[in-house]
Amino acid sequence: MIEPMGNAGRFLVEAADRLGVRLYAATHKDVHEGYPEWLRAALAGVCATDLTDTPRALGDMDAFCRQHGIVGVAPCFELFTPLAALLAERIGLPGNDPRLARAARNKIEMGEAFAAAGIPAPRWAVAHDAAEAYRVARAHGLGWPLVVKPAEQGGSWGVSVVDGPDGPDGPGAAHGPDGPRAPHGPEVPERLAAAVDAARRFTHAYPHGLELDTRVLLQEYIPGGEYSCDTVVAGGVVYPLPVVAKDTTEGRYRIETGHTCPSGLSAPLVRRVQHIAARAALAVGVRNGIAHTEVKIPPGTETPYVIETGARLPGDNLCEVVEAATGVSEAVAHLQAVLGQVPDAVPSRTDAASIRFLLPEHGGVLRRVSIPDLPGTHSEVHLRLGAVVPEPADSSCRIGHVVARAETADQARGLAERVAARSRVEMG
Ligand SMILES: Nc1ncnc2c1ncn2[C@@H]1O[C@H](COP(=O)(O)OP(=O)(O)OP(=O)(O)O)[C@@H](O)[C@H]1O
Ligand SMILES: [Mg+2]
Repeated sequence: MIEPMGNAGRFLVEAADRLGVRLYAATHKDVHEGYPEWLRAALAGVCATDLTDTPRALGDMDAFCRQHGIVGVAPCFELFTPLAALLAERIGLPGNDPRLARAARNKIEMGEAFAAAGIPAPRWAVAHDAAEAYRVARAHGLGWPLVVKPAEQGGSWGVSVVDGPDGPDGPGAAHGPDGPRAPHGPEVPERLAAAVDAARRFTHAYPHGLELDTRVLLQEYIPGGEYSCDTVVAGGVVYPLPVVAKDTTEGRYRIETGHTCPSGLSAPLVRRVQHIAARAALAVGVRNGIAHTEVKIPPGTETPYVIETGARLPGDNLCEVVEAATGVSEAVAHLQAVLGQVPDAVPSRTDAASIRFLLPEHGGVLRRVSIPDLPGTHSEVHLRLGAVVPEPADSSCRIGHVVARAETADQARGLAERVAARSRVEMG
């Protein structure tokens, strides 16, 4: 597993146990020191290397794999999925196409890969600063709202939806204490400039310090319902997984507030989402392993537009939600695919499950959390009391979550929403 420290790690550990597979991790020794006890205990060994240094990491992992008789490479961490593809190819194990794999990590290359494959996706442009962003967004006719995001990041970090040029006085009307202020050029709307700054804020990724592409991606805003669909690919053959409905906050910051499976879409639309998600996975070179694809479907249409795809298991406890609803273990399917086996991707039940995340109204110090315990639900608090919670601008502000299981999607969502509504979060 190339960096299993994310949300999917625990599902991979369970899956390996079920399949009778021994797990080894490749990570940095400092990152390994921060692993939770359950993850350390689950590992048969660790290849300590520097995942940010591709030649060195490939050399270290190659030697480790040969020494330990490794039979599969499971990419786990989005930014290292291209590295996993290179390693699999180098040691002759099932993996993804290294020539395309960077497109699963870098959203600019992803846009190019989707365009080359004719996949419906938002129109886009690239900028290095606010003035260029304003110019190219207009030149490409991207319009408002305009989505501004980092080329490489996850968890909605640095993603803004700019709903229009600044307030009633028009572009560039913001004033500083000493009169008109236009640090980004006379015309550039302040909100756009702020969004570009937010997207460029992260130059290195947590926790390995991987250097990021700091170019900014501008996208046309796609309205409508949002869904995700994962695809297992084994030997180039696609196995679509269940579709999940996703809820997010409105406004500038789109943070996922919950997910529900099944999605509530009609059967033909589910198949369309699965089809387009599979095409997106193939377009970014997924051949052996899983891909997590997010789509939006504009109202009145039946066309899913692909927002992004990643060559990894989903985060957000989606593995748990999908398995509770359908019996499909995405982590088992992922491991089977990277081991060159036929994945178990067929649903064995038709229940429903929903997850809701508890978000703070504002940042501060977490003083108290209480989540009621209703039958059919279980919850988890992510942060300790006294923790500093950031402003709700991305998923790092989440305080906890509740998962509800029921017979139908509406019941599961309703139950999870009831628990979330009755939960109390006090910030100091
Ligand atoms: N072009 C777009 N049109 C409409 N909404 C968008 C668009 N791009 C992003 N969004 C909204 O912003 C959210 C985060 O964007 P995106 O998925 O690209 O970033 P991310 O950091 O990879 O997110 P995550 O890891 O949380 O999925 C999306 O789930 C969606 O709600
Ligand atoms: Mg996303």
